[in-house]
Amino acid sequence: MPTTTEPHITPAVTPVSPQPERTPDPCVVVIFGASGDLTKRKLLPALYHLEQANLLPKDFAVVGVARRPLEDSFAADMKEGIVAGGGVEESDPKLDPFVDKIQYHAMNFDDASGYDALNKLLAEIDKQFGTCGNRLFYLATAPEYFSDIINFLGQHGMSKPCVGPSSDGKKNWVRTIIEKPFGHDLDSAKALNDEVNKVFDEDQIFRIDHYLGKETVQNILVFRFANGIFENVWNRNYIDHVEITAAESIGIEGRGPFYETAGALRDVVQNHVMELLSFVTMEPPVSFEASAVRAEKVKVWRAIQPIHPADTVRGQYGPGTVDGKPVIGYRQEDRVHPRSQTETYAALRLEIENWRWAGVPFYIRAGKRLAKRVTEITIQFKKPPLLLFKGKDGSKADVQPNIISMRIQPDEGITLRFGAKVPGQGMNISPVNMDFNYAESFGKSSANGYERLLLDAMLGDGTLFAHRDGVEATWALITPILKAWAEKPVKDFPNYAAGTWGPTAADALLEVEGRKWRKL
Ligand code: BG6
Repeated sequence: MPTTTEPHITPAVTPVSPQPERTPDPCVVVIFGASGDLTKRKLLPALYHLEQANLLPKDFAVVGVARRPLEDSFAADMKEGIVAGGGVEESDPKLDPFVDKIQYHAMNFDDASGYDALNKLLAEIDKQFGTCGNRLFYLATAPEYFSDIINFLGQHGMSKPCVGPSSDGKKNWVRTIIEKPFGHDLDSAKALNDEVNKVFDEDQIFRIDHYLGKETVQNILVFRFANGIFENVWNRNYIDHVEITAAESIGIEGRGPFYETAGALRDVVQNHVMELLSFVTMEPPVSFEASAVRAEKVKVWRAIQPIHPADTVRGQYGPGTVDGKPVIGYRQEDRVHPRSQTETYAALRLEIENWRWAGVPFYIRAGKRLAKRVTEITIQFKKPPLLLFKGKDGSKADVQPNIISMRIQPDEGITLRFGAKVPGQGMNISPVNMDFNYAESFGKSSANGYERLLLDAMLGDGTLFAHRDGVEATWALITPILKAWAEKPVKDFPNYAAGTWGPTAADALLEVEGRKWRKL
């Protein structure tokens, strides 16, 4: 078989015509669970990048809320996180004035008096920083505190904007961002939705999935709906199957107690992977308004046929080697049960029963401690119906099917694989790639997903956030698998070595249908 050659097709010159940037109204971002990793590693660096890009309002403040008494050290610690996040020098002239806008409030999330004090603090901040009563409450705590916080905010009148125009003459707003996991199964997600909806109106609620903030994820919609040539072949007549891989080489990073209650299905498949799937498969929305996009996503999730346990594979990593270094197995990780049944890998096959997709298998896999970090969507097309070309010995040439692969991360880009004639006398065919690479075309972007989503929430744009219906639709798909797995403990865990591509049973999922996972 001819070897794969990879000539590079230079991307077209890219005139980037930036959209007019909007800046949010003056506001305070209040982060519950601020002593956690997410605040220092992602949220504050993201907010600061917005500040650098002049996308934050001049009148702005951040309040970190957590139990620990961190008053004096909090802002300095956040500064450290911002610098460590990259792209920021300590001497950056905007940095210290930004850090001066960061405050800390220690309280227990289940103690009513803490909310009185927080309310007072926010009123003072309004006076000091001109934040006009606009608030964005970010729930970044462990999920068991979500309903307490929501209820207390409601009871203290903090979930509704103050009446009358704010000091800047505009209408006040209060919004809440709720981190994942949103529930741990269908029933708990519904119960949480009920509680949140009692306190906040749906348009005040921003259920975050940071994958939707990634440029490469949003670009799936642009690729499909801003180009005339792809959508025509984006269906069961031309597509053989679709693979979605969300592979991580990292382990659980010290998050034993959380991961023991989560596992790969809840942690990544129910949310990130389902979002990717919906962008690849949804019908074109009538507009890019939140309600239109959400409606199309929900339709696709609801059209997915119940996933049979026989079409699922779970795995757990044992000791192995990652990046040349020995690493421990999942059961040896800190605060993980030595006989844990938690899956660190999940693969499944599903079908979408609608006119566009009926009969096309979708194969999904996600896991920790895999051979490398790569999130990629592969659309594999059917082979040509008739092959004219013969190999050297007169037999039919072995032509590789066309592939469009969307590299969500790292090495962000899109590749189209097609067959080309190998120069020479014969009609030999070799697969070649046409490649679009984000960094080459647009320069490296530092955006981590949170920037875009924090900004959208401050602007009140819910297009890239999950809606109640969507969260329940994805849990409805995942919950029966969780139940089936819980009823049948696995005997062969760990069943893959760290640093490999997961359990062999996941290969069988495709092999029975004459297919193979694409080598990534
Ligand atoms: C988080 C999961 O939601 O996503 C983590 O809780 C996972 O376990 C992370 O590592 C992956 O995000 P990213 O952006 O690194 O692909």
